[in-house]
Amino acid sequence: MNQALQAIRGMNDVLPEQAALWATFEQAARQVLNAYGYQPIRMPLVEPTELFVRSIGEVTDIVEKEMYTFVDGLNGERLTLRPEGTASCVRAVVQHHLLYDGGKRLWYTGPMFRHERPQKGRYRQFHQIGVEALGFEGPELDAEHLMMIHRLWQALGLTGIQLELNSIGDYHDRVAYRTALIHHFEQHRGALGEEELRRLHTNPMRLLDSKNPAMAEVITAAPNLQDFLGEEAREHFSAVCRYLDAVNIPYVINSRLVRGLDYYNRTVFEWTTRDLGAQATICGGGRYDGLVEQLGGKPAPACGFGIGIERVLLLIEQQQRIQAQPAVDVYVLHQGPSALETALTVAEEVRSAGLSALVHSPAGSLKSQMKKADASGAHFAAILGESECANGTVTIKPLRGQALEQTTLPQADAVAFLAGRSITDE
Ligand code: HAM
Repeated sequence: MNQALQAIRGMNDVLPEQAALWATFEQAARQVLNAYGYQPIRMPLVEPTELFVRSIGEVTDIVEKEMYTFVDGLNGERLTLRPEGTASCVRAVVQHHLLYDGGKRLWYTGPMFRHERPQKGRYRQFHQIGVEALGFEGPELDAEHLMMIHRLWQALGLTGIQLELNSIGDYHDRVAYRTALIHHFEQHRGALGEEELRRLHTNPMRLLDSKNPAMAEVITAAPNLQDFLGEEAREHFSAVCRYLDAVNIPYVINSRLVRGLDYYNRTVFEWTTRDLGAQATICGGGRYDGLVEQLGGKPAPACGFGIGIERVLLLIEQQQRIQAQPAVDVYVLHQGPSALETALTVAEEVRSAGLSALVHSPAGSLKSQMKKADASGAHFAAILGESECANGTVTIKPLRGQALEQTTLPQADAVAFLAGRSITDE
């Protein structure tokens, strides 16, 4: 026998039994996105490598270690499987001049690829819902994003999620901060590992999110970015906080939060949970006012966020707030020579009435079919045994605890009954 092939480590199949949970999440997310007037955009999965180097930053974990990059054998171009969506979205907005008539509120969803060490909640192919608002300068946009995310957690019934918020100031604020950071870390060179020493002069802010335990104390003692913020960044941040207070969204200010991508300025945030172990961040984002210009567009402010779908689904399962949707409304059982034909006809009528139906296959004893019907999660079994076929009737058996007796009805009435009952008895 040939050896069965396996999926690549860290790249997972989403099996039918998980699909209902994905659909539930996606539906809730779409409702929230619609409620705030966001429009969908779809970008390619593969982009020129240069796009990510220029936006995420050359001296970052993603660009240095995690990108799936390859050379196109036909023309020698260096290409990369997208590790995130913001860069592609901004590229598309610039390429298609989408900002010519004012700001745009956009969202996208799909797989992202990062060559990380796989573990629970951390994968090499994972999925995000990303939201980007381009062309808007005011702090009300930062707040709008936080309100949307908060509303989504509420819609999903999730609890115990904390919003961590910070401002990393404007470009010139960070130039002064950079100098102070380099000075500080130079004085503690002994605690720095090889990677930190390499990044010290190219991107010292990355040292602040170093996972190296020997660095913990030095990081705690590092100068505080808040002390370097200019007046405009300060005002922007306090307005974001005021708007959150006005709608009662709690947050904590974490002055060490810098995010792992270089394009951010001013507001940055992460939503974290204690329920997922090490992969605690389920959403991250912030403002990136320089990126549109950096990618060749006319200068335009922007902000956005990305939600890690797998992590949110793990959290939903953990908190068990959402029951998986049943697979179908009606499971059709059949026994006897002409029963299958009638079963197919009844199932079609059920579908025409707006419900979903599944016809048992292959034939077997009614008892074994009933076991399958029970396990399928359907609301009703529609039974076509020999006597039903002879009499032109269907027996309807409720499967999911409805306050209904089993009943036998003429075929046409049975379909009308199912259409009425299965909706009103939910
Ligand atoms: P990010 O923080 O790199 O930001 O990713 C956003 C979210 O994606 C994370 O909070 C996490 O939930 C999820 N995530 C990241 N890596 C993995 C992984 N290896 N496995 C599973 N989930 C993961 C961005 O990507 C920015 N583009 C967000 C943004 C949009 N900022 C502005 N606009």
